[in-house]
Amino acid sequence: MDTPIYDFVKNYKNQKFSRFHMPGHKGKKILGVEDIDITEISGADCLFAADGIIKLSQENTSKIFGTSYTYYSTEGSTLCIKAMLGAVAEGKSGKILAGRNAHKAFIYAAASLNIEVDWAYGKSDHLCRLNITDSDIENLLKNGKYIAVYLTNPDYLGNLLDIAGIGEICRKYNVPLIVDNAHGAYLKFLKESQHPIDLGADMCCDSAHKTLPVLTGGAYLHVKNPEYCSKILKYLAFFGSTSPSYLILQSLDICNKYLDADIKEDIEKTVARIEKIKKTAKRRGFVLADTEPLKLTVNIALSGYTKQEFLKLLRKKRIEIEFCDNCFAVFMFTPKNSQKDFARLEKFFAENKGKAPLRTQIPPIIQGKKAMTLRKALLCESEKVKVSKAVGRVCAAPDCSCPPAVPIVISGETIEDGHIKAFDYYGIEEIEVVKKDKN
Ligand SMILES: Cc1ncc(COP(=O)(O)O)c(C=O)c1O
Repeated sequence: MDTPIYDFVKNYKNQKFSRFHMPGHKGKKILGVEDIDITEISGADCLFAADGIIKLSQENTSKIFGTSYTYYSTEGSTLCIKAMLGAVAEGKSGKILAGRNAHKAFIYAAASLNIEVDWAYGKSDHLCRLNITDSDIENLLKNGKYIAVYLTNPDYLGNLLDIAGIGEICRKYNVPLIVDNAHGAYLKFLKESQHPIDLGADMCCDSAHKTLPVLTGGAYLHVKNPEYCSKILKYLAFFGSTSPSYLILQSLDICNKYLDADIKEDIEKTVARIEKIKKTAKRRGFVLADTEPLKLTVNIALSGYTKQEFLKLLRKKRIEIEFCDNCFAVFMFTPKNSQKDFARLEKFFAENKGKAPLRTQIPPIIQGKKAMTLRKALLCESEKVKVSKAVGRVCAAPDCSCPPAVPIVISGETIEDGHIKAFDYYGIEEIEVVKKDKN
């Protein structure tokens, strides 16, 4: 597979042009990558009006993922989520039905576009982990009129939903299905693809940088339903920077070569290696959650460990993980982990063991009571207050989240007594609320 963006930049660098253009470092090395960090010079194409090397590279990705078109983002899934919402809501009135565990990028996008949201709560044992079924979605679609269904899959802890089943329901009710697949770009390359586009989603975003060898910020916006193609570009440009990083674009471009060649085999080997580690962990008495194949999620509370104790043990062995709270510890893998990494982790589980479960009560998710629209709450004057003083006030900013993403209470909702327990559990001490006279 060719790499048009990478080749262009390499050529440009080798020709040693005098650079009377941005960026200001003029290719002089500071971090060591400046000579291949360029801007939209002649021949370098333009990200949101691509008709040259970027178009060719995006077409390569579209072929790999079997989409109508795949757009690049150098601003993560965050930008893709905004563009997907803009495209799906254009010219329509009505609400979006979204899984409650939506990332805050979704909340900001809905507020910017003045879209109201109804939440699907499903069943949950943790704020980051909702199980929403096709019948949950069908019940909600029967009783409401929605412009789209929006789900997060996989979620932050690695739980997978039945996207194929939910997709069928969405088609039955003629409602498009959008998936935040930030954590699941690699799902395409399992023995049997579990990628949302193959399972029936109309659009999805993948943070390529989370599970593929791509620089931070690199993401895909996949469109299956061609009806959205012309609209997507408009909203990418609406929300995106006019200075996309060519380092990230090159990394997305080069990644195509890997996706087209070796990745399937590498993923198969990695999944088998992780399975072996999971077996060791279980044999040693650790309680693991069901997850997608490239995550290992330990229920540390049921395994008898506090967060502090578990993290201290890991750090002693020089192991750093993606996420840990009082209940779950999440390990993320890719084929780029070395054999040494895998051996070190397996040894960690072999040298430690599960203990009597700790009694932690995960606070239940409380269904939000809407006091004002998302948009009004986010754009109102607000103030920070201690959570103990917040009962009865209206949440302004959704930054009261369990790390890193999922809000306990969402902008526009009234904070209730029951939320306080959740704030305590997730270590949140202050919250941004709407100023009293602005209600
Ligand atoms: C579920 C989910 N969606 C979206 C995002 C945003 O992705 P990005 O960092 O690529 O903008 C994240 C980031 O952590 C996430 O966890």
